[in-house]
Amino acid sequence: MAASTSRVRPLVAGNWKMNGLSAALAEGRQVRDRLQEAGFAAGVDVMICPPATLVAALAREVAGSRLRVGAQDCHPAPSGAHTGDIAAEMHKDAGATAVIVGHSERRAEHGERDRDVKAKALAAHRARLTAIVCIGETAGERRAGLTLQVVARQLAASLPEGADAENTIVAYEPIWAIGTGLTPSLQDVADVHGFLRGTLVEQVGSAGDRIRLLYGGSVKPDNARSLMGVSDVNGALVGGASLKATDFIAIIAACGA
Ligand code: PGA
Repeated sequence: MAASTSRVRPLVAGNWKMNGLSAALAEGRQVRDRLQEAGFAAGVDVMICPPATLVAALAREVAGSRLRVGAQDCHPAPSGAHTGDIAAEMHKDAGATAVIVGHSERRAEHGERDRDVKAKALAAHRARLTAIVCIGETAGERRAGLTLQVVARQLAASLPEGADAENTIVAYEPIWAIGTGLTPSLQDVADVHGFLRGTLVEQVGSAGDRIRLLYGGSVKPDNARSLMGVSDVNGALVGGASLKATDFIAIIAACGA
């Protein structure tokens, strides 16, 4: 079953969603500059996933620094007649190193199913991007006691063949915790992450032991440290609190403490 994953280097990733005009690049610069300070959260990797319009500009701003840039969503195909869509290769070309796929907002607003998410994760791998695959249950599913069943199904059907610790990150985001200020109890987070760790190992073999398992959903400066202390939590996917550099930096500091 699950071995200790304390050796997995944590990642704090900010998901800006559909927020941020050019002026928001200043927040990214502030995070970049804080990361340059000797000894600050040295054991933590940090990424910001801005809207597609800012990926190239942010990548230029952070070139040569510890701050990585990720993208949000991609089309499964490398190119073609898909007006308004963006290929994983395009995100890569713009300077992204990762892409979020299967976020619950994509699943809900765009009808994405597990097999669509898998196709997008495969596209990310094809483009040599790390796929950040999101899964998580609704409030109703949790109330009905179906959480583990739901995340197991999502993981089995969304995770592509060839997933390993370098090309894949899994983000557990209970849908009812996203943007609500609600979070599961630490015991609930431990239960789900421990279960996911075992499932990952079953699904992809020993690499599953080192795939980062992020927690997402109302991560804030004041709860980050306790959430990050839960076993098999290897970092955070942060929405609202990643928009302001001061809050995001406080979360990074909490994860590195
Ligand atoms: P939140 O969003 O931190 O604002 O709850 C998290 C996410 O959707 O990734």
